[in-house]
Amino acid sequence: MNKVNLKPEIEQMPAEPDWAQIRTHFPVLEKKTYLNSCAYGALATDVTAALQRYINDRQEKGTDWHYWIERNDAVRNSVADFLGARPDEVAVTASASAGINSIASALNFNEGRNKVVISDFEFPTNAQIWYAQELRGANVVKVREKDGYIPLEHFEQAIDEETLIVAVTQVCFRNGARLDIPAIAEIAKQKGALFLVDGYQGFGTLDFDVHQAGVDFAVGGMLKYLLGTAGIGFLYVREKLIERLVPTVTGWFAQKDIFAMNTSGYDPSLTARRFEMGTPPVPSCYAAEAGLKILKGVGMAAIEDRIRELTGAIISEAKRAGYSLAVPEDPARRGALVTLRTHDEFALVEYLDSQGIITSSRFDNLRVSPHFYNNQDDIDSLFRALHRQKHLLI
Ligand SMILES: Cc1ncc(COP(=O)(O)O)c(C=O)c1O
Repeated sequence: MNKVNLKPEIEQMPAEPDWAQIRTHFPVLEKKTYLNSCAYGALATDVTAALQRYINDRQEKGTDWHYWIERNDAVRNSVADFLGARPDEVAVTASASAGINSIASALNFNEGRNKVVISDFEFPTNAQIWYAQELRGANVVKVREKDGYIPLEHFEQAIDEETLIVAVTQVCFRNGARLDIPAIAEIAKQKGALFLVDGYQGFGTLDFDVHQAGVDFAVGGMLKYLLGTAGIGFLYVREKLIERLVPTVTGWFAQKDIFAMNTSGYDPSLTARRFEMGTPPVPSCYAAEAGLKILKGVGMAAIEDRIRELTGAIISEAKRAGYSLAVPEDPARRGALVTLRTHDEFALVEYLDSQGIITSSRFDNLRVSPHFYNNQDDIDSLFRALHRQKHLLI
């Protein structure tokens, strides 16, 4: 392994972030114009060092289960702090899908309510898992979009007294549109339905407090804007719901006493740990802890402002050039993901890649997703390249 470059900790930085200095913590930015944080976040030197620490610990400690559990709990504490939740309300999972599945497994669709409301904006996993529940008695209803957005009235029409749970994304992975989560959560509450938000495309770009937003459940993962890596996600469960929900998808790390080694029964934890399953994603825990520490050090308010500035600059330049946006222009209706309509998404992404500019695409849309570590030079490089391929843009 290469020697890890331990630069000064980002968490010690002054209130007004030094964006140029922050960039030096993300080596990929020296080689690439990296605008694909909606897929993976750029890898920070502190996260590299944390992964290296995992290896060092294995080599130096041999076995230490309790230290591994501490790493899992460190992520739980950081996620709780990040979401404005209590640590007992957070499960550290292997993916966002694992969290959604655990909640689904605890619901009974055969007594009273059985309707599940999702939307046209879902990432596939949050649709597929709920459709799978139709095998257990659920009735999935999808709220439709209109002209690239889903008006609140569409949710008002779909959510009713039959609705057991509303499960929707915060920011749409294909066009970048952002839903008004507190408003939809309030509609669900008025109808007596549960509410789950998939915040994977929003967390790390927007200041979000689960209690203020009024959500019952929130899932996310560490690979994108939270600066960690793959193989780890989290689930927030509102405290009052925890004991009412008994997951039937489970494992030894979900038990009240992990090391009781009970083979004669099921004794779920009294905290949100009951929504966990097997051995924690330990290497990913090291990375996640480091990634969340960076975000806390820079500050979510500053990050949100910075992203709004960068996405605003991308949208202005796209409009000036006459390119067609797939994302809503209103900053309240979008997150960090800006999307442009294309005639050939794959040719455009491939061309940009050949120019050292990393983007991605979905459903004919070019996805440009800056994070706080990007700057105006990145945007200028992107548009110089796009202007050379005008024919691929609508
Ligand atoms: C909105 C959203 N939800 C969920 C996921 C993936 O979740 P998982 O951790 O289950 O792979 C993604 C990944 O791209 C996503 O964009």
